Amino acid sequence: MVFPQHRPRRLRRTAALRRLVAETSLRVDDLVAPLFVRQGIDEPQPVPSLPGVVQHTVASLRGEVQRLRGLGVPALILFGVPARKDAEGSEAWNPDGIVQVALRELREEVGDDVVLMADLCVDEYTDHGHCGILRADGSVDNDATLAIYQQAAIAQAAAGAHVCAPSGMMDGQVAAIRSALDGAGHADAAILAYAAKYASALYGPFRDAVDVTIRSGDRKGYQQDWRNAREGLSEVLADVAEGADMVMVKPAVTYLDVIARTRAAVSVPLGAYHVSGEYAMIAAAAQRGWIDGPAVALEQLTAVKRAGADFVLTYFAAEMAQTLGG
Ligand code: PBG
Repeated sequence: MVFPQHRPRRLRRTAALRRLVAETSLRVDDLVAPLFVRQGIDEPQPVPSLPGVVQHTVASLRGEVQRLRGLGVPALILFGVPARKDAEGSEAWNPDGIVQVALRELREEVGDDVVLMADLCVDEYTDHGHCGILRADGSVDNDATLAIYQQAAIAQAAAGAHVCAPSGMMDGQVAAIRSALDGAGHADAAILAYAAKYASALYGPFRDAVDVTIRSGDRKGYQQDWRNAREGLSEVLADVAEGADMVMVKPAVTYLDVIARTRAAVSVPLGAYHVSGEYAMIAAAAQRGWIDGPAVALEQLTAVKRAGADFVLTYFAAEMAQTLGG
């Protein structure tokens, strides 16, 4: 008996063959666009460390969301930059706070055509830059913070958010938000939990985008240690048990193992956040002509899907949608 020689190159000969046998593809339907809206500005402000990304006015945000709808992008996640910050981050649940105003306008503009997600945290709103209420010793008070997340969730849902996305990594935040939403008549509002979220240095450019300076300390007391993968899984399982409709791993490319393990363990939809630093590295190298930016972006975002994510939050959403076609 003659054994046929294994020749995988046969199926790589033409683009059509490669398309036919591709195991994974990034689709427009997989994209979630992160957008920033800032109170008190007349013109969109570029974010220097995120080339191509701006802080929007409410008016320019409307235009951008129409553009994304035209490109077929199914969802966006909104971050607010308030004109006034305080110790508790109270603009996060003010019905006239910037994100609530923007959500109402967007709901009026696009209805249910685009999924409106709202990042639910207070770091953009606090004067100290932490994701919750501080105790006298500077640590974040978990349970006091849950109470303000509940208020923020209700304000977001009342303003028209389809999905609340708690990102503060407080213990019990998903259960607290779920019961607050249900109690306020928002049982239909879904929760996308930032479930395995690491204390990553890759969030640097994002903090420029939302004008956050952490006055003292860091986020290592609440976000996860990036040496730990099993711990990421237990965070995910806890969030699912608490009622998360969807879960997320963040960042994305440095955490493909966590994405793969999460995919194997849960059946709820799984997202991954290709974060600001991941975008900025590609954009900066591409600007210098050192890499082919769109090619690297496509490769990385496809890898995130290959690892098991159903959708990707990415600052490349509009650009990728253009390349991939609706
Ligand atoms: C917290 C939040 C952060 C990001 C998303 N939600 C910042 C942080 O945890 O420090 C980072 C996103 C990015 O880097 O693109 N509100």
